[in-house]
Amino acid sequence: HTLTVDRTRTGPRIGERMYGVFYEDINRAADGGLYAELVQNRSFEYAPADHPSYTGLTAWTETAAGGATGTAQVVDDAHRLNERNRAHLRLDLDGTGGDGARFGVANAGYGSGIAVEEGERYDFSVWARTDRPGGTPLTVALHGAEGGAELAQPLRLTVRGDRWRKYTGTLTARATGTTGRLTVAAGGAGTLRLDMVSLFPRDTYKGRPNGMRRDLAEKIAALKPGFLRFPGGCLVNTGSHEAYEAPNWERRRSYQWKDTVGPVEERATNANFWGYNQSYGLGYFEYFRFAEDIGAMPLPVVPALVTGCGENRATDDPELLRRHVRDTLDLIEFANGPVTSPWGRKRAEMGHPEPFGLTHLAVGNEENLPDAYYERLAVFRAAIEAEHPEITVIANSGPDDAGATFDRAWELARASGVAMVDEHYYNSPGWFLENNGRYDSYDRSGPKVFLGEYASQDNRFRNSLAEAAFMTGLERNADVVEMASYAPLLAHTGSVQWSPDLIWFDNARSWGSTSYETQKLFMTNTGDRVVPSEASSTPVASGPITGAVGLSTWATSAAYDDVRVVSSDGRELFADDFSAGAGKWTAAAGRGTWTVADGAYLQSDTAAEDTLVTAGDPAWRDYDLHVRATKKAG
Ligand code: AHR
Repeated sequence: HTLTVDRTRTGPRIGERMYGVFYEDINRAADGGLYAELVQNRSFEYAPADHPSYTGLTAWTETAAGGATGTAQVVDDAHRLNERNRAHLRLDLDGTGGDGARFGVANAGYGSGIAVEEGERYDFSVWARTDRPGGTPLTVALHGAEGGAELAQPLRLTVRGDRWRKYTGTLTARATGTTGRLTVAAGGAGTLRLDMVSLFPRDTYKGRPNGMRRDLAEKIAALKPGFLRFPGGCLVNTGSHEAYEAPNWERRRSYQWKDTVGPVEERATNANFWGYNQSYGLGYFEYFRFAEDIGAMPLPVVPALVTGCGENRATDDPELLRRHVRDTLDLIEFANGPVTSPWGRKRAEMGHPEPFGLTHLAVGNEENLPDAYYERLAVFRAAIEAEHPEITVIANSGPDDAGATFDRAWELARASGVAMVDEHYYNSPGWFLENNGRYDSYDRSGPKVFLGEYASQDNRFRNSLAEAAFMTGLERNADVVEMASYAPLLAHTGSVQWSPDLIWFDNARSWGSTSYETQKLFMTNTGDRVVPSEASSTPVASGPITGAVGLSTWATSAAYDDVRVVSSDGRELFADDFSAGAGKWTAAAGRGTWTVADGAYLQSDTAAEDTLVTAGDPAWRDYDLHVRATKKAG
């Protein structure tokens, strides 16, 4: 292999913000993930509108000890905590059993249960009121699933008064467990109402209250992201046609930032686009603060009133559009405004008087109706430019990286002079290898590219290799591609709506995918300027290649044809087990023989492995795969 570096020429500058992360609440990235809250459905707001299997008592079960009896029901009545947090738990206690008798509920957390670590402290809180003049005793306990061992010394509190009040305490884990249950149970008779039952590890990322799970936040921080795009994705732009004003609260509306700020007990919960309830405990304040904590530029995405993500609809409601535009201006004020401004004050009240330094924001995500989208975008841009000319507004090219919609979106982007266009694509690793030169021909005088979402479709080594190869093309074109982020960022193994993902986790553990390692390599070793270079290599004609990964090497080139891939025990892999650039090669049906054109490559897929395994050997094992090629004449 030869690498020729041309030191006489200077390549484009690579910006500090070139590589960042795209965070979306998908795959339980927020509740049950990055948001460190351990109690699921803490405010009893789960509803069938979020998911057909949900009820107000999802994740909760009744518990009784010492002969206590009673009823537990979720109600939305005049006793509610507030207008946004309407449902709560009503416990009617019969007063049966002795002094220690307790009736209540137990929470199962997310997935397998609540994970706790020996010696760590966990902060409990609950909002409660009782109609008993003498108060109601409350016991809070942490134990293993199915009545398992106590994981902490129980807390004993007394609820007093028929007004909502917050009660707090700390549990210290005396053992490590991953299937914990949190029991909140009351003694005596009467009616006790509970809401916002919460348990947080004290040890959150940077020790922030209402903070983030440390291991996950640290894995993100280790990437040293230049920016944090949030909160989606499809999460943002669907359902934006629906009204949202309380009390006519409509679920499945778009993600609206104002729902997500202020005291957590006053934040709404909502149906998440990805099929579960989202608590908004992690909201805009927390995202801005997280961006600041990890040194990333905050890059929020607001809905554009044109849906995408499988639902092509444009809202024709000038009043709603006006409100969304106003909300966007208010968002800028929330991020940057002085503490004397209404939204700047709100930020200060939440604990951050200093501005967050917002410079970029994206309007919309993957709108599939370019004309309708760019029409509405113009309204957003005019308002933002008039009040905040310092803010860069990012547009997008729709869901596809090719085709009429994409071309039309780019045409409109150029015509309207937007600064930057957000592109998204998820393709095979082969596509990424083939498209290293994608941006070589992009117009240098047009809008810049923000590659807001991309990934090759799997989480294997060959994917990270293909992504790495592709990223060299992004850097070579850093004068056009200003920012790029792999997607999605997080996935709970027990709730996967989208795969591959960058970081995987369960309730107690987390690990980066191979793509994570690629991103980390590039993100923590970013140069400041491209040095023009050329690489040439002699293709592999023959030699052992172990496993599927090796086959994504460029085994072929103009110099070879009649390429065969053969396993160590002599079997040829079938032609249809491989993929390569369309039109660049031909395959003899059922045989591993190809005529290869310039720049083509062979790449195995999962099916190739299956073929090897199932052809006579039911067990997975390693094979040495050989590429045999015939040198072309001349
Ligand atoms: O990253 C997952 C999804 O892919 C995003 O929500 C959406 O923007 C894209 O289609």
